[in-house]
Amino acid sequence: MKILGTDHISLAVRSLEGRLELWENLLGVKSSAIEDLPERGVRAARIETPGGPALELVAPLGEESPIAGFLETRGEGIHHLCLEVEDIDRAAAELKSAGFQIIGEHPVPGARGTRVFFVHPRSCGGVLLEFMARAGSRPQA
Ligand code: CO
Repeated sequence: MKILGTDHISLAVRSLEGRLELWENLLGVKSSAIEDLPERGVRAARIETPGGPALELVAPLGEESPIAGFLETRGEGIHHLCLEVEDIDRAAAELKSAGFQIIGEHPVPGARGTRVFFVHPRSCGGVLLEFMARAGSRPQA
């Protein structure tokens, strides 16, 4: 598995609007448009930070949203860390065979045309870890 870098740090928020304003003011940059991902129960927006991983703000979409559960038990704060890889299918297969607990059977569509999967915090020292590959990134043979 080839890790290309840390793509983003994700923050769970109750509502995007107010928190986006906070981070835009703090960093002096504009966020991306808000994107709804109904199949994952999240609304997300992204803020590029100068010289570092982006921030992704995620808010619950619908009552079944996993973000709603997270907010209820832990409150607002850091939700997950996302590493970018070259080949998402290979990364999932390698981590699975190394004994990490992958959430879901296969990588799923993420924001901005990416493909993603998550590793359960139980097998990552309490950290929810996301792996993503950009649209058009080519699997290596
Ligand atoms: Co993410």
